[in-house]
Amino acid sequence: MALVNEHYLKLPGSYLFSDIAKKVNTFKVTHPKQDVIRLGIGDVTQPLPPAVIKAMHNAVNEMASKETFRGYGPEQGYDFLIEAIIKNDYASRGISLEPSEVFINDGAKSDTGNIGDILRHDNSVGVTDPVYPVYIDSNVMAGRAGDLVDGKWSNLVYISCLSENNFIPQIPNRRIDMLYLCYPNNPTGTTLSKEELKKWVNYALENDTLILYDAAYEAYIQEPDVPHSIYEIKGAKKVAIEFRSFSKTAGFTGVRCGYTIVPKELKAATLGGERVALNKLWNRRQCTKFNGTSYITQRAAEAIYTPEGKEQVKEIINYYMTNAKIMKEGIESTGLKVYGGVNAPYLWVKAPNGMSSWKFFEQLLYEANIVGTPGVGFGPSGEGYLRLTAFGAREDCIEAMKRLRNWI
Ligand code: MLT
Repeated sequence: MALVNEHYLKLPGSYLFSDIAKKVNTFKVTHPKQDVIRLGIGDVTQPLPPAVIKAMHNAVNEMASKETFRGYGPEQGYDFLIEAIIKNDYASRGISLEPSEVFINDGAKSDTGNIGDILRHDNSVGVTDPVYPVYIDSNVMAGRAGDLVDGKWSNLVYISCLSENNFIPQIPNRRIDMLYLCYPNNPTGTTLSKEELKKWVNYALENDTLILYDAAYEAYIQEPDVPHSIYEIKGAKKVAIEFRSFSKTAGFTGVRCGYTIVPKELKAATLGGERVALNKLWNRRQCTKFNGTSYITQRAAEAIYTPEGKEQVKEIINYYMTNAKIMKEGIESTGLKVYGGVNAPYLWVKAPNGMSSWKFFEQLLYEANIVGTPGVGFGPSGEGYLRLTAFGAREDCIEAMKRLRNWI
C-alpha cells in the first residue's frame, strides 16, 4: 500500500479562507434575505484594465492563426514580459537583474509554497506572527514545522508583530535558516522602513539566513520612503528571493500571473558545506514541474507596463486605497483601533472589549452582515484582531462602515 505524507494529517481540516467561505455559506443558507458584504478574502472586485483586455484579445487572435500560434513557451517565461519587469519594476529603482534571474509563474501563492522544494526538510523556519497561512501550511506539509502545540508549530520560530512594537518584527536572538517576510504586510497592512529592512538583510548576511520576501502588495505603497523591493537594500541579492504578483496590482486574481526573483549570487549550503546557487536549482525545479504561464496571460501582464496600462493600474490602486482611507476613518470614528490601510489594502482592526477574533468575526457576520477574517487565523499574535480588505466595491465599503457604526 502506498504510504501518505503523514505531515498532511497534522494540518487543520481546511485552509483558512476555505474555512471562512464555509461559515459564510452556512450563514447565507440560513439567512437567505441578508445582504452580506464580503471584506474577508483579499480578492479584487474591479475588472481588468482595458489595456490588459486588449492585449489578451490580440493574443487570442494570434493563437487562432497557424503563423502566430504558440505551443509550449519557455518554462521561465517569455522574454517580452521578463524584460518589461526588469525595466519597470527594478531598473527604474536602480536594481539591475539578468533575465535569467526572473521566473514568471501563475501567482505568488504557488511559488511561496513551492520554493520549499529546493530546501532541506530540516531547515529551521522563522515567520512573523501574524502571517499569511501559506508559509506555515506549506512547511507543515514538508515536515519542517513539527507539531501543533497550543496554537503554535513546535519547530517554527514565531516573531511577534504586535501593536506594542508597532508591528515591527524584532531580530531574534538565535539563528534561523529560512525566514519569511511579507511587506507591505498581509495581514496587518503595515510596512517596514528601509532602516528596519536593512536590519533583517544584515541579520541574514551575518547568519547565512535565506529570506523569502513576499512583495505581492508592493504596488500599494503610497509613502515615498517605504522600500518596494528587498534588493533596494545592499547585500540583499546574496540572501533573498523575492516574490511578486499581478493579482493585487492589476486584478489578476482570476487570470493568474506573478514572478519570482532568484538572484544568481544567492547561495545555500549542502550538508557537506558546499555552496550551491539556488537559481540553478529553482530553474531545474521549474523545468521539471512547470510548463510556464500561458502566452495569453503573459501578454496580458506585459500590457500593464505600457503607458495606458500604467495609468489604468494607477487608477485601480487609487480606487482601492481610497476605499482603505474611507474604511480607516470609518473604523476610527467608531472608537475602534485600526492599523494598516496606508500603504496596503488591508486594515487590521482590534476587537472591542477584549473580544476574541472568532467572536468578533461571528458577531459582525450575524449582526452586521460583514465578513472579515479572524486575526487568529493568521497566527497566535493575531488573536483579538480582525482583518478587513479594501478590495470591495466603493458602495460596499461605505455601507459596511455605516453598519459597523450602528453595530458598535
Ligand atoms: C488573502 O486574503 O490573504 C489573499 O487573498 C490570499 C492570497 O492572495 O492568496
